[in-house]
Amino acid sequence: MQLAERGIVEIEDEYRIPLYHKRDIALVRGEGPYLWDAEGTRYLDMMSNYGVAILGHAHPAVTAAIVAQAGRLVSCHQSFYNDARAAFTQALQQLLPSSLRHISFGNSGAEAVEAALKYARAATGRPRLISAKRAYHGRTYGALSVTGEAKHRASFAPLLDGCEQIPLGDLEAARVALVDAAAMIVEPVQGESGVRVASDDYLQGLRRICDKTGALLIFDEIQTAFRTGQTFAFEHSGTVPDIMTLAKPLANGLPIGVTVVSPEVADRIPPGSHGSTFGGNPLVCAAGIATLSVVGEPNFNPHVSKVGAVLLERLRAIEHPLIREVRGRGLMVAVELKRNASPVLQRMQAADVLAIPAGSTSVRFLPPLIVEETHVIQAAEAFEDALRAVGEKEGNG
Ligand SMILES: Cc1ncc(COP(=O)(O)O)c(C=O)c1O
Repeated sequence: MQLAERGIVEIEDEYRIPLYHKRDIALVRGEGPYLWDAEGTRYLDMMSNYGVAILGHAHPAVTAAIVAQAGRLVSCHQSFYNDARAAFTQALQQLLPSSLRHISFGNSGAEAVEAALKYARAATGRPRLISAKRAYHGRTYGALSVTGEAKHRASFAPLLDGCEQIPLGDLEAARVALVDAAAMIVEPVQGESGVRVASDDYLQGLRRICDKTGALLIFDEIQTAFRTGQTFAFEHSGTVPDIMTLAKPLANGLPIGVTVVSPEVADRIPPGSHGSTFGGNPLVCAAGIATLSVVGEPNFNPHVSKVGAVLLERLRAIEHPLIREVRGRGLMVAVELKRNASPVLQRMQAADVLAIPAGSTSVRFLPPLIVEETHVIQAAEAFEDALRAVGEKEGNG
């Protein structure tokens, strides 16, 4: 494929439904923490394609696994057994707490959430689904119904009946809302809305309320898994959910969604009540096995914590009137600005560093988890330069 940058942009723009605010570069190649555009410019990747390429791009073990499996068997319906699926299942089990054992496969985060919501209703026999304001759980109808931001839901009503959003961190609201509810779904760190960390106390409180009311606790770890310095973000609070959703990083870029449930929930899901043609296919599972074997190495979480702490510290050290707050856990970090983030992101891109927005006012750093301190220091410096340039232009610092 040898399309020049202009050709790529023209073709996509002519035929796409304009759903995305496009960045004006075409990314065509990656290696480790770097991406290249069609004109040969190299960028430092501080976004891992929205939290997906955690081992960086073209990771040799993942590439080798994909190539080998592609020459062997790509698809295998889940009504048959498969060796790659079994091996992936085993690798995932080694990372999970013993009370979260049973899994089903889909192909994306939204699908993992759909399954979780269906299982919660099936297991409890109750319809009401509670989520947090500002939450993001995906774009399909069920996931959208528990997504907090009204802007994502506008135009698509009516959504699922029985869904209600409560403020993140408000246990009193949870106590009221969770009476007779099927479940509370929550991101341990809200990603899309600007990296808002749910406190350990709050997650522990939710667990207690769910235990009392019989509502199930669902943690959406689609963005947080492996990224916060623990294998799963819930480990910081020691709060184990009844259901957990996983997707983005599991196969380092191949599409995957997994819903994990406790044995008690699994027992109450009617056989045949959910499924997916592509889910759990051997190609994705082979990439997933290679990915999880790196994630399971003893130094993986300490590395994420250490490099994440450097990034957070460097960003917190920046003094600028346009900064409202710096938030983060591990290598999931955002700087909320007092203005729209996009000019800052554009200037960082012009300095060959790619970060992404979270909401409209936050600059978010979701780098591959193999980045070193030198990379995050470079990113923090590029952010500071970009912020100062934008501020000066507007007479702000
Ligand atoms: C926490 C969370 N849940 C669900 C999703 C939806 O995942 P997908 O885009 O793969 O459907 C996302 C995507 O950003 C997410 O961050």
